[in-house]
Amino acid sequence: MYSPFSRAVFDDPYPVYRRLRDEAPVYRDPEDRWWVLSRFDDVAAALRDSSLYSSSRGPAPENPDRDGKKYSIISMDSPRHEHVRGALKRSFTPAAVAAMEDALRTIVHGHLDKLRPGMTIDAMEAFAFPIPTDVIGELLGVPASDREQLRVWWEAFLAREEGSVAMPQAAIDASREISSYIGGLIEERRRDPGDDLISRVLGATFEDPDSGERSLTPHEVLMFCNLLSAAGSETTQKLISNGLVALHDHPDQWQAIVDDRDLIPAAVNEALRFDTPSHWVARTLTAPVEMHGVQMEAGDWVLLLLGSANRDERRYSDPDRFVVDRGKGGIDVYFGWGIHVCLGQWLARREAQLVFEYFAEHFPRYTVGRHERVLTATVRGYTTVEMTLR
Ligand code: HEM
Repeated sequence: MYSPFSRAVFDDPYPVYRRLRDEAPVYRDPEDRWWVLSRFDDVAAALRDSSLYSSSRGPAPENPDRDGKKYSIISMDSPRHEHVRGALKRSFTPAAVAAMEDALRTIVHGHLDKLRPGMTIDAMEAFAFPIPTDVIGELLGVPASDREQLRVWWEAFLAREEGSVAMPQAAIDASREISSYIGGLIEERRRDPGDDLISRVLGATFEDPDSGERSLTPHEVLMFCNLLSAAGSETTQKLISNGLVALHDHPDQWQAIVDDRDLIPAAVNEALRFDTPSHWVARTLTAPVEMHGVQMEAGDWVLLLLGSANRDERRYSDPDRFVVDRGKGGIDVYFGWGIHVCLGQWLARREAQLVFEYFAEHFPRYTVGRHERVLTATVRGYTTVEMTLR
């Protein structure tokens, strides 16, 4: 019924997700590789229980990690996770993002000011790819001329071949290129520190229970910066474009935003729920668990389907409709939840809000033409979106 790597699931996963929730809330992969949880309550409970649902083997069963060797904090458990995440957590709070407002506006407007009503563009090339890439590039201190190359490497790193779980050679090559490039930047910043995130990670210290106060090892610094450069752009590109396509498909909701810009923060949250960029996260069990009459064993992989939880009719009324203002009520899991909740969530939200604001003001009657999805390991979004600006 369900494989995260099939083209059919990528084209339209939502009918499959509904069947999983209704018929097999604890679903065993037909090839016996992992369990799949798809109901909101089960996914949220698993995200919260990080001692039972461990992250230490990483986010990708096809390429497992060991305590953050490959993917930094996303594959660490407590207490190491808090130590390393602590190095940067203050750099991503709502207040820290508010302090970046001018820089964010300059980047967003820099790309959108080049566009004019009447133009037909590929929205991905024109702004959805470059805005998040420039934002994280700016924060990490990546020179502007190298940012597009980094984005292309990350895209190759995440791309998967249909039906295949293994990482393609191009993805492995891209990961080496990224590490070597970021490693070079770290060396430069070690010699000549600035106010960028790399310098802050290099300068951070914490109390290690084994060895007392220490800074991050060179490998820890490299993996953390790698993670930021990937996590910071790929998903946000998808949020911006998935959101604009969804709003085009729900003209009454878009009109409500054009009439009342105060709805934009809620609309960005709804875009995250309605067509979420991150469709699943992975965990391994540290002890046996019985759920809905099914027994899972210690060491088993479990995929937590955020994309399905976000459309669970047990949690959201009329879940397959984009409803700009759903009001407040309970938690959402599109950025994960618990100790691993997305570090960049406020930054990602603000980038998308600035794009939606610009569109509401300058292109309130934009239309969407041909659009094509991209097949990646966990991220759902487009590779091209033809858009006519009006
Ligand atoms: C729409 C955009 C984004 C989405 C949908 C998203 C989604 C997620 C999700 C679901 C997780 C949890 C992973 C897990 O539980 O295993 C996560 C973690 C993370 N995200 Fe994001 N993310 C976005 C943007 C960003 C940005 C802009 C940054 C950085 C600038 C970022 C940095 C991170 C980091 C460092 C983690 C790991 C946190 C930890 O393990 O403690 N993300 N993100």
